[in-house]
Amino acid sequence: MLGLVSTYYEGARVPWVPTREELLDIIMKLANLKPTDAFYDLGCGDGRVVLKAAKEGVKKAVCIEINPMLIEKAKESAKVENLLNKIEFINEDFFKVSLSDATVIYMYLLTSVNRALRPKLESELKEGTRVVTLDFEIPGWKPVQIIEIALPMRTARLYLYVKGVSDK
Ligand SMILES: C[S@@+](CC[C@H](N)C(=O)[O-])C[C@H]1O[C@@H](n2cnc3c(N)ncnc32)[C@H](O)[C@@H]1O
Repeated sequence: MLGLVSTYYEGARVPWVPTREELLDIIMKLANLKPTDAFYDLGCGDGRVVLKAAKEGVKKAVCIEINPMLIEKAKESAKVENLLNKIEFINEDFFKVSLSDATVIYMYLLTSVNRALRPKLESELKEGTRVVTLDFEIPGWKPVQIIEIALPMRTARLYLYVKGVSDK
């Protein structure tokens, strides 16, 4: 049983701040998930977003997380929900993982990290791949849609980008 997990992990570029549960349906809808999709969460934390994508029935769901405690937590949740064999868990720096078969990418990171990831996204993603980011933009890319959601203490902002459209 994993209890407290530190929000900071050495080597992580962003602390762990989970996506709020009430945004999950909206994220799935914005990504326009299909059964043929390969869904990647870069820095998947406790796996809540990738678990949701797996429940929606995507072909492939990938949880990439540098913090081993969080990956274990994500696996534990997947086990409870009977989704363990539907998700690939990768305990690694997302800069080192190939994204070439992704069709949907989710990122709740920081603008500076999105900027650093941009060349990787531009060189590895297929045309048409949807990229959804929460609260932080990908500098230099044009979002095709922005959604604002009022939460109790703040307004969340979701950005949808499409490779081949947003990066031109
Ligand atoms: C803001 S949290 C978002 C967690 C999850 N995506 C969600 O929305 O609930 C960012 C996550 O990225 C992870 N992370 C930061 N830098 C990373 C890196 N270079 N490679 C893999 N994971 C990283 C952190 O450990 C943290 O869990």
